[in-house]
Amino acid sequence: MECISVEMNTKFIWNMLFAAICWTKNGNTPGHGARYGLDEKDKFSSLPIGDSRAILVWDDSLGWTYFSDLSAEIRDFLDLYLPICNSPLQKSFVIGHLGQGLDGYIAASSGDSNYVTGRENILHLHRMRALCDAVVVGAGTALSDNPRLTTREVKGKHPVRVIIDPQLRLPSDLSIFTDEVSETLIFFDEKIKSHVFSKNETVSLIGVPLINGRLDLESLLNALNSRGLMTVFVEGGGKTVSGFLEKNLLNRLQIAISPLVIGEGIPGIRVTPKKRLKDCLRPHSRVFRMGNDILFDCDLRSIDREVAEIDSELPGISRIN
Ligand SMILES: NC(=O)c1ccc[n+]([C@@H]2O[C@H](COP(=O)([O-])OP(=O)(O)OC[C@H]3O[C@@H](n4cnc5c(N)ncnc54)[C@H](OP(=O)(O)O)[C@@H]3O)[C@@H](O)[C@H]2O)c1
Repeated sequence: MECISVEMNTKFIWNMLFAAICWTKNGNTPGHGARYGLDEKDKFSSLPIGDSRAILVWDDSLGWTYFSDLSAEIRDFLDLYLPICNSPLQKSFVIGHLGQGLDGYIAASSGDSNYVTGRENILHLHRMRALCDAVVVGAGTALSDNPRLTTREVKGKHPVRVIIDPQLRLPSDLSIFTDEVSETLIFFDEKIKSHVFSKNETVSLIGVPLINGRLDLESLLNALNSRGLMTVFVEGGGKTVSGFLEKNLLNRLQIAISPLVIGEGIPGIRVTPKKRLKDCLRPHSRVFRMGNDILFDCDLRSIDREVAEIDSELPGISRIN
């Protein structure tokens, strides 16, 4: 098959990928070795050998893979999202993301974080929301940003919005509580008296226990899983993503670094410090350029191989742009 990069842009590839994940989530089972893509009616389907629209290949042990003769740009795009698309349908899969400046801050001290990273990373956030069943933010982000947490920039279903608000301190007029474009679940300390928070039927309150004064994130994930929400995107802020990381609940951690110096502000990842660097988390990571930003996509579950061993397979110095 000839290289098809010229006719294919990111939007087309994204639409195909999104169609693929919807297709499998709808209970369809791909055939081993079969080739898939969007047909003339833009429907995701099995396509014959030699059809240049057949981009994805199903492998019973690896999941979705792709033809190696695609352009490097398309391969990189697919490489970034396929681990999420290939996460097991019946198992919890949690991805954390933060966009930070060169000095590690995710927002200015005022709470302003519009925008730390550039347009490509924002599109990436919307794609991640579309690939995941639920998107989680902490009360700090909900209050400071009044986010909508939708997929309005890309083709895709809005995720269920999950807000961690232990003391139910958030005002009820935030967009996520009033816009009704998707369901919103508010997780709070089960010991506090819950009240009727909103007349809106798309908003629900779920009480979970505290452990050492913190909301038990494992109970939160169990509650999401029991509702069929298996892929969970933890989008911020720093305290919330750090909480999931500290409890070893993340499968992947994505940190986008922007060439921006904030000086002082809201920190990104903060976990219990270790005295020695050899005891610190140093996950296997892949590096993607996203416009002017660099995304570290860390696999927190590939503990079976030493990082040093993986490092030795990488080129010494290479320019990514
Ligand atoms: N650059 C980025 O990628 C990015 C992404 C998102 C947000 N932001 C920015 O980040 C800032 C907010 O970040 P942040 O770190 O201060 O706050 P945050 O993580 O958004 O929210 C933290 C709050 O959420 C609640 N919470 C989260 N996990 C909890 C747990 N396990 N147990 C109990 N409570 C929990 C607590 O609420 P209570 O305070 O009520 O106890 C906690 O103080 C904003 O300025 C926002 O604009 C940046």
